[in-house]
Amino acid sequence: MSEEPSETRWSFLFGRKRLPESQDPQAESASNGPNGYVKNPSDMAIYEQFGSQGGSSNHSNGSSNGRFNERLRKPIFPTFESADMMNLAESLSRDIIRGSPDISWESIKGLESAKRLLKEAVVMPIKYPKYFTGLLSPWKGILLFGPPGTGKTMLAKAVATECNTTFFNISASSVVSKWRGDSEKLIKVLFELARHNAPSTIFLDEIDAIISHRGEGRSEHEASRRLKTELLIQMDGLMQTNELVFVLAATNLPWELDAAMLRRLEKRILVPLPEAEARRAMFEELLPVVPGEEALPYELLVERTEGFSGSDIRLVCKEAAMQPLRRLMTVLEDREEIMPEEELPKVGAIKPEDITTALRNTRPSAHLHAHRYDKFNDDYGSHVL
Ligand SMILES: Nc1ncnc2c1ncn2[C@@H]1O[C@H](COP(=O)(O)OP(=O)(O)OP(=O)(O)O)[C@@H](O)[C@H]1O
Ligand SMILES: [Mg+2]
Repeated sequence: MSEEPSETRWSFLFGRKRLPESQDPQAESASNGPNGYVKNPSDMAIYEQFGSQGGSSNHSNGSSNGRFNERLRKPIFPTFESADMMNLAESLSRDIIRGSPDISWESIKGLESAKRLLKEAVVMPIKYPKYFTGLLSPWKGILLFGPPGTGKTMLAKAVATECNTTFFNISASSVVSKWRGDSEKLIKVLFELARHNAPSTIFLDEIDAIISHRGEGRSEHEASRRLKTELLIQMDGLMQTNELVFVLAATNLPWELDAAMLRRLEKRILVPLPEAEARRAMFEELLPVVPGEEALPYELLVERTEGFSGSDIRLVCKEAAMQPLRRLMTVLEDREEIMPEEELPKVGAIKPEDITTALRNTRPSAHLHAHRYDKFNDDYGSHVL
């Protein structure tokens, strides 16, 4: 996710000039058209988004202008003690996803209990904070663990899509790229930014790599230890306040997390290999029935893919879909000259024998350690009752 540049990110902000505090917002809105903030949200600076989120009714009603001004003036960043930290905050805010990554709960097949636990732990407290106070105050640290390619990152993106909150997408690579030696400062700034923009979710993808990152030489080792300690301190801080800042972490090596970290990731949710039903749903979506063509052997697919992860299943489907294209390629290769684009023949439909070939050529990648995840889940996991 962090690799794809997106126009909805905050990064565009830093190339823009900020509105001086004294400027009259009315004048600004007049220049945008008769009813004010009608620009595409992705073109808006964040203070403009604050304005538009309130709805246009704020503008037609002069008396609410004061409130609007107040929001308009809310700075993007809290005040930091040094320019250094301000720089870190700017680079971290590039990892904030504004707008949605567009993954719906329905597009994630199976994983019903993981979805339910996540909705209960993150989505509902953000949507209805009124109920989640006192003893029911929300869990602040949530860990998604399970074999590789089972949909952990997808689940986190679904949370970001559903809850319109500030979503920090922090992966090991983004930590390393922002590494300036002062590792604990990076974490400090991250949490300060998250609190400032609450409600927010900090998604630490591949958390095992972030906290066990080892570079060359002693100093790096020391730096990674300091980063981990600061993360523990900051998460402790979260648990003691009522601010809506969640830490959502994902890993496929949960046993590498130490006890102190596990204690702070209170809710631990297993994201298992897909069950038969989920596999069937994935196949039906990726290899849909084509009217008038031979039916595909879904039963066989489901039966033969026990122990496959979601991404293995995607590979099987890709391999199957490749077969008709391969047949076409051999025809095209026999021709002397290149055919013009508009005369190219259509790729044929997938045949049942393509499926058997694909199954023969694809091996599951994640089933070997499956029992370890189950064991970890029995020992530490959260369950749906
Ligand atoms: N439950 C699922 N429903 C639909 N597609 C899935 C599911 N699980 C995995 N996939 C497919 O597998 C791909 C990888 O999923 P994802 O990146 O979420 O895995 P992950 O659990 O984060 O893996 P890793 O631990 O290696 O980071 C997805 O892009 C999707 O195509
Ligand atoms: Mg992932």
